[in-house]
Amino acid sequence: KAVTVGIDIGGTSTKFGVVDREGNVLTQGSISSKTHDDSFDAFFDDMSAAIRQALSEIGPAHLLGIGVGAANGNYYHGTIEHAINLPWKGIIPLADMVKKEFDVPCIVTNDANAAAVGEMVFGAAKGMKDFIVITLGTGLGSGIVCNGHLVNGKHGIAGEVGHTSVNPAGRYCNCGKRGCLETYVSATGIKRTVYKLLADHLEDSVLREISYESLDTKMITDAALKGDVVAKACFDYSGRILGMKLAETAVHTDPEAIFLFGGLSLAGDLIFKPTIYHMEENIMPIFKGKIKILPSGLQNQAASILGASSLVWDFLEKKSAVA
Ligand code: BGC
Ligand code: NA
Ligand code: ZN
Repeated sequence: KAVTVGIDIGGTSTKFGVVDREGNVLTQGSISSKTHDDSFDAFFDDMSAAIRQALSEIGPAHLLGIGVGAANGNYYHGTIEHAINLPWKGIIPLADMVKKEFDVPCIVTNDANAAAVGEMVFGAAKGMKDFIVITLGTGLGSGIVCNGHLVNGKHGIAGEVGHTSVNPAGRYCNCGKRGCLETYVSATGIKRTVYKLLADHLEDSVLREISYESLDTKMITDAALKGDVVAKACFDYSGRILGMKLAETAVHTDPEAIFLFGGLSLAGDLIFKPTIYHMEENIMPIFKGKIKILPSGLQNQAASILGASSLVWDFLEKKSAVA
């Protein structure tokens, strides 16, 4: 059976799947993006071993190529460059290493850009020509599709909405700037908001009992659903910041829809309501009521894995068409 492998390297974990031509994920696995010594080589060895193991489990398979969606991945160079939420510094020649290790073609792109491809081919953006996918995980990623094409940009890194400013004097970001959207709206951003609100308010909150290390988006969501005042305020605050930013982002490409994927977006109305409200409040009048904010059609699925593998299938087929 001919297969590709799709890999999603995110700030916290790296997930991969063995994917067939129809987009069926035959088997999947996951490893931590952080190894004991934070070296890329150790991570790469772990990842390669896990992939080989997964391939051996599906029986006789013919691996044709590997696609990677990586935080701070560069499509043109096949590299991870100056990763923001990953432990590796400098420029990582990821595609070259994968090609050498597995002896197949490898395409690397940004994780959120891969998610946008996944949404276009298999998800809720099927048939749409203009849309944006926002991924809410450890960081905030974005992938922009315009006129039916994923926007790669001049340098292969287009779509970094997470590092546009919402407040020049705001929170410090791992990218070196201040006030980036992802420092407010992401798994880590909302945690920072929780602690800020807990420090500012005297309200009782179940979140006060939880340590920073163990606190996650799911706990904040559950608390908000039970009526916790601080947790609810955190979602309102995150939604306001995201909505205002999307009002700005939308005017660049006039998308049909903006899809929210993963993490915070799984909180449903808690995040969608304030986001939609504040986008509509702040957007230029001629855009009002036109741009939909929707949940990804691939929620809880491997959007980046599917998108990355789909890029590889495309690449393989274009190559054979040329040959
Ligand atoms: C990175 C993006 C990435 C996003 C989600 C951001 O911090 O700059 O490249 O897409 O996190 O992983
Ligand atoms: Na992107
Ligand atoms: Zn930043």
